[in-house]
Amino acid sequence: MNLATAFPPFGLRIEAGPLVLRPITDDVLPALVNLALGGIHDPRRMPFYVPWTDAPPDRLPLNFTQYHWGVRASWAPEHWDLQFAVEYEGRVVGCQGLATKDYLVTRTGETGSWLGLQHHGAGIGTKMRQAICALCFDHLDADEVTSAAFADNPASNAVSRKVGYQPNGTMRKTRREGEWKGSQQWMLTRETFNRGPEITVSGAPEFRRFIGLDPVDAPCA
Ligand SMILES: CC(C)(COP(=O)(O)OP(=O)(O)OC[C@H]1O[C@@H](n2cnc3c(N)ncnc32)[C@H](O)[C@@H]1OP(=O)(O)O)[C@@H](O)C(=O)NCCC(=O)NCCS
Repeated sequence: MNLATAFPPFGLRIEAGPLVLRPITDDVLPALVNLALGGIHDPRRMPFYVPWTDAPPDRLPLNFTQYHWGVRASWAPEHWDLQFAVEYEGRVVGCQGLATKDYLVTRTGETGSWLGLQHHGAGIGTKMRQAICALCFDHLDADEVTSAAFADNPASNAVSRKVGYQPNGTMRKTRREGEWKGSQQWMLTRETFNRGPEITVSGAPEFRRFIGLDPVDAPCA
């Protein structure tokens, strides 16, 4: 028994050339905190529904680490949030997640991601989104993947468009206290998926059994 046996999300790893999506184990949390402290976006335009990057620098490390411990602690078959640290050419550059409810029924999940400011605009955001969508369609039997971004987040909306997501309406979402902003909703199916570099995945059979896609006595590859 090791941690990945007890908690199979810790055994999942996606590789696509210089890009690696690895589980957010405790050893990678300090590098992610450092990235977040260094800035993720222009502070004038909050991209997140929960404005966690507004936290003062002396609170952000605690908030950030507690958030990721909470993601693990609240994992349940009915609702889960798969969070990866993103490495590019051996450096930790950001996070890529996939959150879902009742996955076995809905076969849909919402992607969410961020990169440290110094890593923006180099195509990494597109590649990591393509990698997680390939995981969903090719290894997790997803029917669709959704995303959303505020109207004043051209980079995120551009990534969704490039990866092949289709516009799926708009919603008013609160952003910071007392403020709302239109949020563009996006939906991707395998038919319009614009694939990136081929991915190699480890830990998928164990993860599939863990989330109930395969029976527990199914053989592991
Ligand atoms: C969203 C994010 C992950 C995208 O990552 P990235 O590596 O910068 O994205 P890419 O370089 O792959 O692509 C960005 C695209 O946005 C476009 N873009 C960026 N700024 C733009 C602007 N002001 N106007 C129009 N297009 C813009 C780029 O031109 C590029 O498209 P192209 O390749 O067709 O030219 C990154 O910007 C980020 O972390 N932002 C802050 C956090 C965030 O917004 N997360 C998403 C919350 S919904």
